[in-house]
Amino acid sequence: MLAQRKGVDKMKEFENKTESIDPIEQISAMISGWTKDSGTMLPKSTEEIKQYISNGNSLFVKNGHGEIAGFAAITFDWPDGWKELGAVIVDPEKRENGFGHKVVKNLINMAVTNFPDSKFFALCNNKSLKLFLDNGAEIIKDPNLLPPEVFGECVNCPHFQEAKSQGKVCCDTPVTIK
Ligand SMILES: CC(C)(COP(=O)(O)OP(=O)(O)OC[C@H]1O[C@@H](n2cnc3c(N)ncnc32)[C@H](O)[C@@H]1OP(=O)(O)O)[C@@H](O)C(=O)NCCC(=O)NCCS
Repeated sequence: MLAQRKGVDKMKEFENKTESIDPIEQISAMISGWTKDSGTMLPKSTEEIKQYISNGNSLFVKNGHGEIAGFAAITFDWPDGWKELGAVIVDPEKRENGFGHKVVKNLINMAVTNFPDSKFFALCNNKSLKLFLDNGAEIIKDPNLLPPEVFGECVNCPHFQEAKSQGKVCCDTPVTIK
């Protein structure tokens, strides 16, 4: 009887553990792992990704097998009605298949639909610039157009020291959505 009781308790413990695996937690950990390993973008923590997902300010694209292929988000609210688009990442094993273009296209559509009164920009590296330009974005020629606070984030960039040594504020190219 005691052995049976112990078996039931063990099973309950297992079920509770299974229920407690939060899919958002898992997805966030996976995406923060991709961003950490990319070496070409601001790494995003599991907490940050979880927040983008639960705020409804992010999206995924999936491949034909229903696996998550890419992710992007509205990452920051800045003064003067500006919102930043970013955290654009495609699973390293699924790149060069159009998912980057798709995730950026869907992100822009989501942003302008959900926030019609906002202005949007992204800081692009040499890989993501084409994704935004192909989806109608334009290069911001005068970075003073953006609130100066935007460039405060650059201290977290993996290329900050390199850019600083070249006398640049930011090594990325700012683009705005028309
Ligand atoms: C940047 C990044 C998101 C691009 O993702 P991707 O899925 O490889 O992007 P795409 O496949 O849409 O486009 C890349 C190339 O694939 C090719 N491609 C293949 N199939 C395609 C399709 N069906 N549609 C469009 N392009 C396709 C294109 O030729 C494209 O090259 P081109 O635009 O120079 O012609 C990805 O490299 C990444 O996650 N990098 C690390 C993180 C990073 O740097 N993020 C940007 C932060 S600013």
